[in-house]
Amino acid sequence: MNKKIILYIACSLDGFIARKNHDISWLFMDQTYGFEEFEKSFGAAVMGRKTYDFSRQFSDPPFKGKKNFVLTSQRELYPASTDELIFCGYDDVIRYIKDGDDGEGIFLVGGVKLIADFINDNLLDEIVVAFHPLILGDGIPLFHGINKEVMLEYRGSEDFSTGLVKLKYLVKKQ
Ligand SMILES: NC(=O)c1ccc[n+]([C@@H]2O[C@H](COP(=O)([O-])OP(=O)(O)OC[C@H]3O[C@@H](n4cnc5c(N)ncnc54)[C@H](OP(=O)(O)O)[C@@H]3O)[C@@H](O)[C@H]2O)c1
Repeated sequence: MNKKIILYIACSLDGFIARKNHDISWLFMDQTYGFEEFEKSFGAAVMGRKTYDFSRQFSDPPFKGKKNFVLTSQRELYPASTDELIFCGYDDVIRYIKDGDDGEGIFLVGGVKLIADFINDNLLDEIVVAFHPLILGDGIPLFHGINKEVMLEYRGSEDFSTGLVKLKYLVKKQ
């Protein structure tokens, strides 16, 4: 059985998750916008090494009490793994997703290649996007490298006085 995988991510109205230089200082930090609730629902987070390198300045591992999978091709990082921080390859994450019982959900953090790989491999179950009220014009895109059309089922939205709008979709499996 597969564990449920949810992409929960913030982006600009024009679809960028970070500036080209990886800067995300435009993200609203004045409140959690429901992330605190979401955090209780997942047992593991999966992120690219660059996202981890950025996140670790705030918390290392980024999500305490959870399994933090950090995808990297640098095998020399693997031995530094602990119970909560696991440096690994894509296949190791897939094994965790498919092994054992359904367990708690998995938070797909990003970035761009990981998101495309999960979609291309039919692994993603839900998408929550927190659109911020700005246009960046350029940057790291939310979706890039996806090799097929994907149908979504709209499951609701939430808007906030700051202008942030959160959209939730289920991914229709093909
Ligand atoms: N707006 C948001 O909510 C949000 C959310 C997440 C991230 N972000 C930001 O978005 C940016 C994402 O940057 P990004 O997409 O360029 O980088 P990324 O996905 O965070 O990291 C890319 C790195 O992950 C590793 N990787 C990815 N797929 C792999 C695979 N299949 N096998 C082995 N290793 C793999 C590689 O690490 P090695 O180079 O070590 O091999 C690769 O260089 C970051 O700045 C981050 O802070 C924003």
